[in-house]
Amino acid sequence: MSTVVLDNVTKVYPGGYLAVDRMNLRAAEGELLVLLGPSGCGKSTLLRMIAGLEEITAGDLWLGGKLANHLAPRDRDVAMVFQNGALYPHRTVRGNISFPLEIAKTDPATVKERVVELSRALHIDETLDRRPSTLSGGQRQRVAMGRAIVRRPSLFLMDEPLSNLDAGMRTELRMEISSLVRSLGVTTIYVTHDQVEALTLADHIAIMNRGVLQDLGTPGQVYNDPATAFTAAFLSSQQLNLLAAHVRTPQNQYILLDFGPHQITMQWTDPRAYAVSRHAGTQIIVGIRPDALVAVPENTEGPSFFGRVRTLEYHGHEWLAYLESGIPAVGVPEPPDPRHANGDGQSGGRSRSVMRRLLSNGPQEEQEDAPATPAGSGTHRRADLIVRLGSRPVWRAGEHGRVAVDVSRLMLFTQSGARIDPPRR
Ligand SMILES: Nc1ncnc2c1ncn2[C@@H]1O[C@H](COP(=O)(O)OP(=O)(O)OP(=O)(O)O)[C@@H](O)[C@H]1O
Ligand SMILES: [Mg+2]
Repeated sequence: MSTVVLDNVTKVYPGGYLAVDRMNLRAAEGELLVLLGPSGCGKSTLLRMIAGLEEITAGDLWLGGKLANHLAPRDRDVAMVFQNGALYPHRTVRGNISFPLEIAKTDPATVKERVVELSRALHIDETLDRRPSTLSGGQRQRVAMGRAIVRRPSLFLMDEPLSNLDAGMRTELRMEISSLVRSLGVTTIYVTHDQVEALTLADHIAIMNRGVLQDLGTPGQVYNDPATAFTAAFLSSQQLNLLAAHVRTPQNQYILLDFGPHQITMQWTDPRAYAVSRHAGTQIIVGIRPDALVAVPENTEGPSFFGRVRTLEYHGHEWLAYLESGIPAVGVPEPPDPRHANGDGQSGGRSRSVMRRLLSNGPQEEQEDAPATPAGSGTHRRADLIVRLGSRPVWRAGEHGRVAVDVSRLMLFTQSGARIDPPRR
């Protein structure tokens, strides 16, 4: 069994594309760590560097306490499963699973025992004598997993193993992966772009965007207490309300979050008050999940927003309302573009500064701040507040609606998307 430690691991592809930027991560022994992020954010690159299939440009990788940057893949005791786990077509399921043990000249009794044990755990014991071509996609992925894990590697790497399967099969296999790797106690790093998969499977989730680590914590921590606006938005099941607010402290009596047409006051007794007050006179980003806004009667006291109901959406188990608020909307702040400068002289992003640092071996430069951009192409779009109404639509389109705001559930970010009151992890 193995621990995995990444210390400032960086990947710059030939041509200058900065795919992974100074990644610091740790997977404890027996842990299931999920790497989550949108397509192209560098998940597979990171996994392949851990497996030894991709060279590490800078930083250190430690496997089981040993520096592993230059270890050959076969010396890492790592097994990997891909999205399309290719099987040997002319071997039976039994022959596919047993193959790595045969290569390792394991004694036949042990081979038989392990194959039977694993095929039962993966619910493919009925298919042992069949060829891969006669199996369903879900069964084939089970065989690929069995073959990868049969020789009991120290580290099990999975790159979107369920993404080609239908929803029902994904749910079923997700549970089996969870119980299999936990019963074997093998350290596992699992890559996905599916939030539900990450939240349901992980001991810890590392969230990436554009090669940069955005957040790291237990599923509960990253969902309830996200460290960045990106994490908050990426993990929201409905679209997150991201609003621009000016911070003021009138006569130091309280903190005013000024949203333009609406204001919300925060009392000094709020645990975040001091951190927020340091941004007085500037604009911050406020994130509000649709379920933190509650439709209330017009004359209700307390912090609230109001507006015309633009439209209602039926989602089966709930209704969502879109309320015209007049508040400036902001886009999700992103790390700078990882491409190299292109020929027209425009800066392409971070790769040059990271390359300079790597070449000079100097101290780490300050993370460059990408200011939040108003959503839309340069226009100051006004936000439609998305409100979760539950199973009964209390409003009709065109009506005037008011929503109470739970101030304790406002998520407060700087313009570059970092939490103003950093979560303690
Ligand atoms: N060999 C390569 N040379 C240059 N760029 C590459 C190479 N491999 C990957 N990239 C780029 O690096 C970035 C990260 O790729 P990667 O495959 O790690 O993303 P990913 O997060 O796994 O995405 P997906 O969810 O789509 O699989 C992408 O922009 C990709 O185009
Ligand atoms: Mg990938």
